[in-house]
Amino acid sequence: MTERSGFSSKVGFIAAAAGSAVGLGNIWKFPFEVGESGGAAFVMVYLAFCFILCFPLMVTEIAIGRKGQRNPVGAFVALGHSKWSFIGKLGILSCVLILSFYNVVAGWCFGYFVEILSGNFSIGEQFPDFVKDIIKVGGYSFVFMVMTAFIVSKGISKGIEKAPKILMPVLLIIIVVLASYALTLPGASKAVEFYLFPDFSKITGEVVYNALGHAFFSLSLGLGAMITYGSYLGKKENIISSAVAITFLDVGIAFLAGLMLFPMVISQGLDTHGGAGLVFMSLPGVFGDMNPFMGMVIGGLFFLLLSFAALTSTVSVLEIPVSYLVDEKKMKRSNAVWLTALGIFLLGIPSLLSNGYSSFFSGFVTYFGASDPTDFMTFISDVASNSFLPLGGFLIALFAAFVWKKENLFEEVTNGNKNFTNTWVAKFLGFSIKYLCPWILGAVFILNVLDKFFGITLYY
Ligand code: TRP
Repeated sequence: MTERSGFSSKVGFIAAAAGSAVGLGNIWKFPFEVGESGGAAFVMVYLAFCFILCFPLMVTEIAIGRKGQRNPVGAFVALGHSKWSFIGKLGILSCVLILSFYNVVAGWCFGYFVEILSGNFSIGEQFPDFVKDIIKVGGYSFVFMVMTAFIVSKGISKGIEKAPKILMPVLLIIIVVLASYALTLPGASKAVEFYLFPDFSKITGEVVYNALGHAFFSLSLGLGAMITYGSYLGKKENIISSAVAITFLDVGIAFLAGLMLFPMVISQGLDTHGGAGLVFMSLPGVFGDMNPFMGMVIGGLFFLLLSFAALTSTVSVLEIPVSYLVDEKKMKRSNAVWLTALGIFLLGIPSLLSNGYSSFFSGFVTYFGASDPTDFMTFISDVASNSFLPLGGFLIALFAAFVWKKENLFEEVTNGNKNFTNTWVAKFLGFSIKYLCPWILGAVFILNVLDKFFGITLYY
């Protein structure tokens, strides 16, 4: 099989994959999940899942992609049998769902960038009205989707690899600067205590599966993003060290985002349970308290970078259906890109309407009425990240352990180095893929479905 063209270097691959992982999940979703799910206890569970389940799965996804040299649907067929293509198809469905609401939030970020640059620091208080202004927000989201599609249409080395190589280091610097500043604010020590000292009594079933879903979402796992990027990775590159770098960058940036945000929230007198609006309501006030010039520079830069972090993620999600259409349906890349982008934008309209504009979508009765109404966007995000991604991870682990087999996985991971099998990394990988991932992910999935869809709660 000939190797397909792709990333020009390992650094390019790591930047793009870390660019996929680091996004709104780290800076917007992580702090509000922490806020809603009991602070440091959530952080501990999340970190445990990242290293015990997600890291091995990331290695596996990259290896499946590189061996298969195809999009997720084709890769499962190439390494297994056509009956396994459904895992890839489930991934594509999750992709479409995730991008449909993610792009709306990315539109908020981009809109905030514009507002802050025009000196509007009270945009934080105006958040509820801002998200209801669907023409404005819809416009920003539309522009965002166009930017995403433009990058994806350029292909791997000229688009998907290029942008993150520049944007990721800058993002890291800005977050370090903002976190250091936040720690000097009044109330910082209280915030750090909430964020870093766990109260284990707060760990409930809900906290565990939110943390699991978030670990998957944050590391871009479970729907084949890493399979797709892995398919463009050179045969000589080291998968393990790449996955280590991606995981640490992602977890590190989420950690710093929390360290930055909670002191800001508390110093603004806001509640840490702020929900989806947390970042959007607390930060503008902080920037407004600086001198106007500094506020504009730092605030503008922050929302610009948040938009860029989102962009390197949306690009990775759009690439999945696109690579499927190009490989399997022999579509021209540019047609596949624009068609999918437009379709997903339209599917995002209910999410756009669900933040107060339409009462139907804002108070959506979900899960066949088994749980309280929430807005449509939260519902989709819950279903996709807390149910579909762990389910995808479960199926990918089963496939790798029992269909493709551990030996083949190890061979792809090490480029055929036989000594690897005896190292502790290999033993841990094998154990996690064969036992931990299937059992833990399977159990959490079943408990979640019973609880959310049927109202049967077997834990509390
Ligand atoms: N990981 C990204 C974030 O944290 C979102 C994302 C990009 C994603 N690609 C994905 C989530 C694939 C799940 C699967 O913002």
